[in-house]
Amino acid sequence: MPSHLEFQFHDLHPDTENLRGDVLSGLAQPRKALAPKYFYDARGSELFEAICGLPEYYPTRTELAMMQASAGDMARLLGPNGLLIEYGAGSGRKTRVLIEAMAPAAYVAIDISRTALRQCAGELAAAYPAVRVAAVCADYSRPMQLPTIEGLAERRHVIYFPGSTIGNFTRAEALVFLRYAREIAGRGGAMLVGVDLKKDPARLHAAYNDAQGITAAFNLNLLTRINRELDGNFDVNAFEHHAFYDINEGRIEMHLRSLRDQQASVAGQAFHFTAGETIHTENSCKYSVAEFQQLARQAGFAAEHCWTDAEQLFSVHFLSIAA
Ligand code: AVJ
Repeated sequence: MPSHLEFQFHDLHPDTENLRGDVLSGLAQPRKALAPKYFYDARGSELFEAICGLPEYYPTRTELAMMQASAGDMARLLGPNGLLIEYGAGSGRKTRVLIEAMAPAAYVAIDISRTALRQCAGELAAAYPAVRVAAVCADYSRPMQLPTIEGLAERRHVIYFPGSTIGNFTRAEALVFLRYAREIAGRGGAMLVGVDLKKDPARLHAAYNDAQGITAAFNLNLLTRINRELDGNFDVNAFEHHAFYDINEGRIEMHLRSLRDQQASVAGQAFHFTAGETIHTENSCKYSVAEFQQLARQAGFAAEHCWTDAEQLFSVHFLSIAA
């Protein structure tokens, strides 16, 4: 019975989940913006799962296939009996492929969401009784200290950050984030990170403008969430999904565009929208292999190896830190 699965739980009490404050300040800016982490309420997580299976959305299936094809090679580079630290707790299948190939001594999931974390850690503890499992509730985009996992301080620390979630950071933010990650992995440590590649803009555009409108629903759900959780009165039908590839910035930007001159109130505060005005809801940065390797080096890593798929859609980088 998987009823009380064994895993250590460490709560570092991240104080960044401030929907109300973040939404009110985001909408008060001259260029309105909301953070993409707020997409993921229950409905948003469901819609994201659906996105991952869309014909136009290549990253998820491409990265999983790359893990299946190359987990053995990755495991050889990462070494056995390490401490595998995953940033995020949502990527079950890729993680399992890696755990099975690598056979780490322990697996630690770090996520800001307590529920996602408990679920993920519980499932992995049940599936891999030989692997010590721990869960850390924390915000990995900020400087943090890994709680001591008994007896494992000396093992190689390997950070796994799949899903091209790193694309949500701007390039400057990604550099800061990688420097924090380097501190967590420490001397002799390593990082395996999934990064979406630059490619034909039409292909990128299609991936964020799917024919079924699931990505549009995912983006618009943010307004539905604000209406429900912050006593908002957005007319969701008076906004449209707007996603485009900015070739100079090398990123997809997602926005919610007001279809008319209108006003909406959130938690008692009124916000005005001119026709065509947008709320910037997400960046999804794309990198060439060389560009990401340069960023990693600036953060103090050695860019040791990079896997790509045959179509050059996606990349997985192996980065290491000198002992
Ligand atoms: C979860 C950040 C990797 O940027 O492709 C998918 C989120 N947004 N479709 C991405 C997303 C719209 C996704 N990441």
